[in-house]
Amino acid sequence: MALANFLGVFLSMELIASGHRFGANGLSMNYYVFNCPLAEPILRNTVTSALQSDPTLAAALVRMHFHDCWIQGCDGSILLESTKDNKAEKDSPGNLSLRGFKLIDDVKEQLENQCPGVVSCADIVAMAAREAVAWSGGPVYDIPTGRKDGRRSKIEDTFNLPFPTFNASELIRVFGQRGFSAQEMVALSGAHTLGVARCSSFKNRLSNPIDPTMDSDFSRTLSKTCSGGDNAEQPFDITRNNFDGFYFQALQRKAGVLFSDQTLYGNPKTKAVVNNYALNQAMFFLDFQQAMVKMSLLDVKEGSKGEVRADCRKIN
Ligand code: HEM
Ligand SMILES: *[C@@H]1O[C@H](CO)[C@@H](O)[C@H](O)[C@H]1NC(C)=O
Ligand SMILES: *[C@@H]1O[C@H](CO)[C@@H](O)[C@H](O)[C@H]1NC(C)=O
Repeated sequence: MALANFLGVFLSMELIASGHRFGANGLSMNYYVFNCPLAEPILRNTVTSALQSDPTLAAALVRMHFHDCWIQGCDGSILLESTKDNKAEKDSPGNLSLRGFKLIDDVKEQLENQCPGVVSCADIVAMAAREAVAWSGGPVYDIPTGRKDGRRSKIEDTFNLPFPTFNASELIRVFGQRGFSAQEMVALSGAHTLGVARCSSFKNRLSNPIDPTMDSDFSRTLSKTCSGGDNAEQPFDITRNNFDGFYFQALQRKAGVLFSDQTLYGNPKTKAVVNNYALNQAMFFLDFQQAMVKMSLLDVKEGSKGEVRADCRKIN
């Protein structure tokens, strides 16, 4: 009887572990259930306590995951340091103000103590972003794990990141190239419900000619921010540490911070989506979580195409 129970539990755990495989990329839900059962709880505790002392890190973690996935896939390449003969992604102008690397190191150190060589840096970044969204009041969702860490990180690859000067058609095109619909692109842009942009990212909107897609009171707000210099921070919406629908309401008031934000309200295809999300936060949350899972699967490395780094800043 006891043995049968034990087998039953064992079998159902195995079903959980082997269920939900994601294509041929070697990822699955509960990937660490057997080989590092404490991985997710340890990560969650470490990220949560870091966010309690600095809530602005939530935005940083979500953005780090985006930049990691967009360049060469979700492979932890954003974490690699430049070396004597290689300039890394991190050192690109596109990296502007990326933060949170120390927290990733802390999580990695604890996971290496717990189960050496098992949990990849790419998975840590992906799971940390998911925790950041949940912690700041956004959707709570699960992501498949089992990503391997990549060995390439080159500054020139980062020119593929979308620019804040892109209009809606360009955003639709570049996200389309990575397999995202216009609606998914708008949902992902909703990540700008968290965090800030620096003056240098939007100051071109303030002069010759002043960007007409912007509300005139709001352009005074942005100018005031910029009087603090290029690095002065402007929150994307009125609740920079809360994941909510206020970003879309700001776009409706023509108070989007980046040109690439406001343009979503200027194109008929994306304007309808903005209006839906502004009205219906639950719909935004659902689309956002689905698009984030999809983004977290971009060009993931499997098997010998990757490794599990011992130190997230260096290839093994
Ligand atoms: C649609 C194209 C996008 C463009 C052009 C864009 C551009 C930018 C720029 C210029 C900044 C401000 C950097 C600074 O001045 O410090 C920023 C911040 C941010 N981005 Fe995006 N982004 C895009 C999409 C995304 C996506 C898909 C995500 C995540 C899913 C994301 C997450 C964030 C977050 C959370 C911040 C705030 C970071 C912080 O406060 O530390 N962005 N983005
Ligand atoms: C980003 O790149 C700049 C050089 O363009 C560099 O000075 C800065 O340290 C980099 N930031 C991070 C977080 O690595
Ligand atoms: C968007 O930008 C592209 C490239 O600069 C330009 O060709 C196109 O006309 C722009 N579209 C709109 C609607 O402004």
